[in-house]
Amino acid sequence: MTATRDVTGLDIELLRHETPGCLRVNHLNNAGCALPPGKVTDTVVDHLHLEAMIGGYEAHADVLDRLERVYESVAQLLSARPDQIALLESATAAWDRGFTAIHHTRPFTAGDRILVSSSEYASNVLPIMQLVKGCGARLEFIPDDEHGCVDVVAFANLLDTDVAAVAINQCPSQNGLINDVAAIGATLRANNSGAWYLVDACQSIGQLPVSAGDIGADFISATGRKFLRGPRGTGFLFASDRALSELEPFPLDLHSATWQSAGYEVATGARKFEFWEKAYAGILGLGAAVDYALTCGIEAISDRITLLAQHARTGLSAVPGVTVHDRGLQLSGIVTFTHDRIDARQLVAQIRQAGINVSLSTPEYARVDFDSHHLEALVRVSPHAYNTTAEIDKLLEVVAEASAH
Ligand SMILES: Cc1ncc(COP(=O)(O)O)c(C=O)c1O
Repeated sequence: MTATRDVTGLDIELLRHETPGCLRVNHLNNAGCALPPGKVTDTVVDHLHLEAMIGGYEAHADVLDRLERVYESVAQLLSARPDQIALLESATAAWDRGFTAIHHTRPFTAGDRILVSSSEYASNVLPIMQLVKGCGARLEFIPDDEHGCVDVVAFANLLDTDVAAVAINQCPSQNGLINDVAAIGATLRANNSGAWYLVDACQSIGQLPVSAGDIGADFISATGRKFLRGPRGTGFLFASDRALSELEPFPLDLHSATWQSAGYEVATGARKFEFWEKAYAGILGLGAAVDYALTCGIEAISDRITLLAQHARTGLSAVPGVTVHDRGLQLSGIVTFTHDRIDARQLVAQIRQAGINVSLSTPEYARVDFDSHHLEALVRVSPHAYNTTAEIDKLLEVVAEASAH
């Protein structure tokens, strides 16, 4: 196959050739769940076959080395160490394992404050709401700056010794912005804050370089199925050395701890945040997806996504009646829009009918963000590196057509 590299250096024909779903659909829903490379699907299916042929435990024993390499690959992706990585089944499971460990080790009490970004994802906010309701701690949303991102100066002013935890969403799922999670980490360090710092990298992993060292978070949670293009039901958690040495996960199981005659001993390393049972086929697929992304180059993927998202932003803004709801100085590959006459649900259905996958973002996913901007349902477009400008143009045609009637 002849190389057809674009300005980012990626061979787009090859990427598409290696992504069987490209033959079937114009998939602009990578923030929901991306089309996987064929290699990822083959890896999953091969392991399921192996389990079926020789037994699940025996198949596990056969691939121990490859499983170790998945930790190494994820660690490389985050510029971290393999012993700082836990493999879990979703970003939510990963985030929860970090958050519940914080609360279990030193329960939140009345007077504690938990600071959260205004576009935080519902599944992170809901457990905080549950906990503060029971113990009298306070959940506070950090104000946005004039661009709509977490206001780092306002954040610094909110910091005090009573701040027990800080949760920031790096790329919210609905508004196109990228929060400066490294600046927030630096602010915590500059203030000698003892607060636990959790970063939700669910939408940023695979579309942006994410470096654990630069961010300085105690926990970074992510999923496999979105911009990383891994299988559904996979995710992971990065844990800082401080989290590894000071926090005890809750609840424990016989993987995260050993039951001894006189009590129990908690495992060392981030695997203490895992449970024993795992979908190993999915984990191997996740490893294949991470390796694929690393081979393509995260910078190149990021540049390509930015280029395609910008093409969508410019084109959609030119359609009469369309408003693009982006905020932030640096924009992610997530583009949301509304039409002043056509309901977003109807628009998503019309776009789907034309063979294009986009999705719907609704307030219950990020209540504070939607309510404060008086937004209802939004159409969400999220290209990946394997998409083309022609595919975006097809979307623009469909939206313009719908708008003309
Ligand atoms: C920003 C963000 N955080 C967390 C999640 C939850 O991810 P998961 O469904 O893998 O638990 C999502 C899912 O869409 C998300 O967009």
